[in-house]
Amino acid sequence: MSKWIKRAIWIVLAILIFGQAIRPSRANPSTQAALDISAEAALPPATMSVFHRACNDCHSNFTVWPWYSSIAPSSWLVAYDVKAGRKRMNLSEWGNYTAEHRSKLAKEMCKEVTEGEMPGPMYTLMHSQAKLTGADVQAVCSWSETAQK
Ligand code: HEC
Repeated sequence: MSKWIKRAIWIVLAILIFGQAIRPSRANPSTQAALDISAEAALPPATMSVFHRACNDCHSNFTVWPWYSSIAPSSWLVAYDVKAGRKRMNLSEWGNYTAEHRSKLAKEMCKEVTEGEMPGPMYTLMHSQAKLTGADVQAVCSWSETAQK
């Protein structure tokens, strides 16, 4: 093995070992039940169950942090997804959005699941129960129709 390859391996190992010290927060913010999307009277149970199964980990304050979220570098990726996901749409803070914003998000939700963009392929690889069936997509979209202004 050349000197350079050995050096490169040492550098990668050092990054992996010292990288463990950079631990992103895995705190779940506290939540007011009244603001959660489940407080919406018009939300059918089938739709709610899709959100619970396939969206809540990144789009709510009820993230179930997987084991690989405590090991760098996957911990950084998971933390990034949760942070960016909650920022774009937090189903636990649904009640804080304006009616316009909720309508827009409802429309986008149908679009994302229809196109198979959400939940992402990396996520369903690790969470097979989050793979959406045609009926799941239908459940999101028929609710979405009623939720749009
Ligand atoms: C693994 C994490 C993860 C899961 C699971 C997930 N999302 Fe997302 N979602 C994200 C991230 C991250 C973004 C922000 C993407 C960006 O900023 O480019 C996002 C963005 C969105 C947006 C906003 C799109 C836009 O253009 O503003 C919608 C709507 C959405 N997701 C719906 C869903 C729905 C519905 C589910 C469940 C069926 C779901 N997501 C599951 C991570 C996730």
